[in-house]
Order: sequence, then structure tokens, then C-alpha cells
Amino acid sequence: MRVLVTGGAGYIGSVTARLLLRRGHEVEILDDFSAGHRQALPPGAPLHVGDLADPAVLDRAFRRPFDAVVHFAARSLVGESMQQPLPYWRVNVGGTVALLGRVALGGARRCVLSSSAAVYGEPAAVPIPESAPLAPVNPYGRTKVAMEGVLADAAVAHGLGAVALRYFNAAGAADGLGEDHEPESHLIPRLLRSLLDPAVEFRLLGDDYPTPDGTCVRDYVHVQDLAEAHALALEWAERPGFTAINLGNARGHSVREVVAAAAEVAGRPITPVIAPRRPGDPAQLVASNALARELLGWTPGRSDIRVILADAWAWHSAHPRGYAG
Ligand SMILES: NC(=O)c1ccc[n+]([C@@H]2O[C@H](COP(=O)([O-])OP(=O)(O)OC[C@H]3O[C@@H](n4cnc5c(N)ncnc54)[C@H](O)[C@@H]3O)[C@@H](O)[C@H]2O)c1
Repeated sequence: MRVLVTGGAGYIGSVTARLLLRRGHEVEILDDFSAGHRQALPPGAPLHVGDLADPAVLDRAFRRPFDAVVHFAARSLVGESMQQPLPYWRVNVGGTVALLGRVALGGARRCVLSSSAAVYGEPAAVPIPESAPLAPVNPYGRTKVAMEGVLADAAVAHGLGAVALRYFNAAGAADGLGEDHEPESHLIPRLLRSLLDPAVEFRLLGDDYPTPDGTCVRDYVHVQDLAEAHALALEWAERPGFTAINLGNARGHSVREVVAAAAEVAGRPITPVIAPRRPGDPAQLVASNALARELLGWTPGRSDIRVILADAWAWHSAHPRGYAG
């Protein structure tokens, strides 16, 4: 298939782009480098530089139609979205509307969208099935619900095969590609950075949640497993219609458990500094992944927390300043 990957210079997009190329797809990337890295681009893939919502950028990218679009490009910092919600609506929702406008004109027949566990907000129970109420507790999550809504409407009206993949916590490294966000809000890279640089303290954000050890419980899924799910979803999305599918390991780990496992993998002690809760963080997010297994035949084969940490530690040790060195 000829596939446009938006956000292909970012963390999950770059790993997925390589995997799609390995599977024989023809891949082009669209990215504005607001959070992506040139070093993460797959060699040889045509690149369209610019904002997804810019009609001139889309004109250039869609000069030849694609068979499919995999749409990663978004803003995704929960805290920032609470302070500055409007850019989140502009990029995440406005960008998706602009992109789907081209898709609707015959630009592609299939679309796979990066959604998020943030659509569920504070779930009533875990593991969370896709049928759980969508009740996001921050603007980021609300834009993801809106992006899914726009895609679902476009799928019906324009006969697209559309899949929203609701990732839980992406983590790990693959193919020499790792997680390098600035600022970094994700637990595992923050933890590993603190191990590599004694000047960086590791702040554990809240130890008074209603969980067994008081720290947040999350479902970590290896970035390689996420990439494989995208390839499977593209193949699966042959028939028109919209489907939302969770991608998680169906296993929760508390922050304290991840800290202990990281100290063991790295062979170094970690002394967290206990800090207040971060607004907008639900206590527990653990996926049911039954639908992904059933529909896509997906298995999260690398998502054991020790495998994730070992892969991430190897990447961060080799890139202590991220892609900068
Ligand atoms: N990382 C996670 O744990 C996680 C969890 C759930 C959902 N997601 C979603 O997955 C997607 C990818 O996440 P990631 O961690 O790889 O993010 P990332 O920030 O590493 O990658 C996003 C990429 O999109 C590009 N981009 C952003 N705005 C753009 C615009 N207006 N035009 C063109 N390009 C633009 C950035 O430059 C970057 O390369 C996002 O949609 C995110 O919301 C991520």
C-alpha cells in the first residue's frame, strides 16, 4: 500500500514507518518537526515538511493519492493542554479535519488514527473495554474523543475503513529509535534520564492515590508492539466503517513497581522525590486488549515491563541527550 504517515518523525510514528517499509509498503512522511526528529526519519522515505492544517502542505502531499493514512501528528502533553487548550483543538481536531478533507476527496481509502486511553478519563473499573464511557478529564483527552468522532463520521459518509487505536502508555525503544520529548512527561524516560544524569531528580508525582501502594497504575505497551498493531490495522481496515480498539498489555504496574524494575534493569539505585499529584492523572488505566487480539490477531509480545525497560535503558544509555547525542 502507498501510506502517508503524519507525525512520522515522532516517537511512535518513526518506529511504525520503519515497520511499514519492512513489510513492503511505500511510505511518505508528513511532519512539521514541532516535536519530531530528523534523525528518526526512515532513510529514503519522501518527506513533506509543514503543518498538517496548512492547505499548501496537504496539496503537495496529496499530489498523488495514497491507499491509506496513518495519523500520528498531534499535540499530546496533558498538563500543557490544561493551560493552553486552544492549540490542542487547532492541531488535533483542526488538523484531523483538514487531513480527512483530502482523504474524502479520494486521497485514501483507509485511515488509522492515534487515539489514547485519555478518552476514558477516570474509569469506573479496570481493565477498560472499548465500550466503557468516554469521559476524558483533560482537554487533550477531549480532543482525542473529538478526533475519533470526526473520523467516525467521515468513515460513514465517505466509505473509509477507519480504525482509532487507543494506546495506553507507549514505552521502550526499537530499531535504534527511542523516546525523546521536550519537555518529557512520560514516566520511563524521566526515570531513565535521572539515572543517567545525577543532576536530574526523579519526582514521583503523587503517592496518595487509591491504589495498592498509593502510586498511579498504568498499562505499558512496547512501541514495537504498537507499530505492529498499526500494520495489522491497515490490513484489516478493508471494509468501510469505524472501529475503536484498545492497545495495551492488559497488565497494570504502579509507579513504584516501575521504579523498582528500572533500578534492577539498570543496576543502579533510585531514590524518588515525592511530589504532589499532577492534575488530570487518573489513578488507574489498564486496558482490556481482547478486541485487538480478536479483530487484528495482535499479541503484545514485547510488552513485559522488564523487556520494555531493558530496551529503553539501552537506547537512553546510548543517547543520554536523546537524538541530540
Ligand atoms: N506516547 C504515548 O504514550 C501516547 C499514548 C497515547 C496516545 N498517543 C498519541 O500517539 C501519537 C504519537 O505520539 P508520540 O508519543 O509519538 O508523539 P510525538 O510528539 O513524539 O510525535 C508527534 C509527531 O507529530 C508531529 N506534529 C505535531 N503537530 C504537527 C502538525 N500540526 N503538523 C505536522 N506534524 C505535526 C511532531 O513534530 C512529531 O514528530 C499522538 O497522536 C499522541 O497523542 C501517544
